[in-house]
Amino acid sequence: MSARISVMFVVVGLFFGFGLMDCCVNAAKFDELFQPSWAFDHFDYEGELLKLKLDRNSGAGFGSKSKYMFGKVTVQIKLVEGDSAGTVTAFYMSSDGPNHNEFDFEFLGNTTGEPYSVQTNIYVNGVGNREQRLNLWFDPTQDFHSYSIFWSQKQVVFLVDDTPIRVHSNMEKHGLPFPKDQPMGVYSSIWNADDWATQGGRVKTDWTHSPFIASYKGFEIDACECPASVTAAENAKKCTSNGSNRFWWDEPTIAELNVHQSHQLVWVKAHHMFYDYCTDAARFPVTPAECEHHRH
Ligand SMILES: *[C@@H]1O[C@H](CO)[C@@H](O)[C@H](O)[C@H]1NC(C)=O
Repeated sequence: MSARISVMFVVVGLFFGFGLMDCCVNAAKFDELFQPSWAFDHFDYEGELLKLKLDRNSGAGFGSKSKYMFGKVTVQIKLVEGDSAGTVTAFYMSSDGPNHNEFDFEFLGNTTGEPYSVQTNIYVNGVGNREQRLNLWFDPTQDFHSYSIFWSQKQVVFLVDDTPIRVHSNMEKHGLPFPKDQPMGVYSSIWNADDWATQGGRVKTDWTHSPFIASYKGFEIDACECPASVTAAENAKKCTSNGSNRFWWDEPTIAELNVHQSHQLVWVKAHHMFYDYCTDAARFPVTPAECEHHRH
């Protein structure tokens, strides 16, 4: 499916140029792209809508049937309504193994009326510790909103309703590793994390308010599919543009944010972000190198 769509992109792209976020993939049904990974009895799947349930017995999680390299994945989520304190709903991409790469959205619940927080993190070669946190500019429990990860050889971009909230650029030229050699799966789950999630772990999950339900729809994956039968190196080669085969995410016009998107990111950081590992001097007395470079 992706190959055909990519061919279409090349044809359209030749005439109109590309936009990072204009992606014209139709949303798929949950079970076309994904399967439950654990707690099948905590899934409720009807028509277009998927619900994951967390109760005293279990949370639940699902994963993509395939692994991918580069492209864009999007899902629309409506987070746990009312009292969601202690709960975490995650949407992420991850490779396997001890040196895995991972791009995380984690939605940290809160007591009724207090804002959900969104934590993002990036693991490169098995090392994370790159947390950022923000409060959203809308109530994510009232409606579905889209959450996307865009991944190319140049950057990883986290987007909320197509507004970039985080960019992790390729800084290999400064000697920093960038995740571009391992296929990744796409995952989501809901679980109890009341030891740390809400107000630093002070507020515990109130099980009298369970089940806690996260709802999903509009699953989109426009990426290069990586068969498990093929080595990571061969997949990386296959998923990289070359003379005859060009992928839309490799177009130079989307190698970095455009001016409008850069302004959006500045706005998010100024008005909504309340924690950034890059400015946490207590935790990192020496500013991480990638933070230095990101500023320029
Ligand atoms: C929950 O609400 C409190 C109070 O408004 C806020 O400080 C906190 O950042 C919110 N999010 C989490 C996950 O605790």
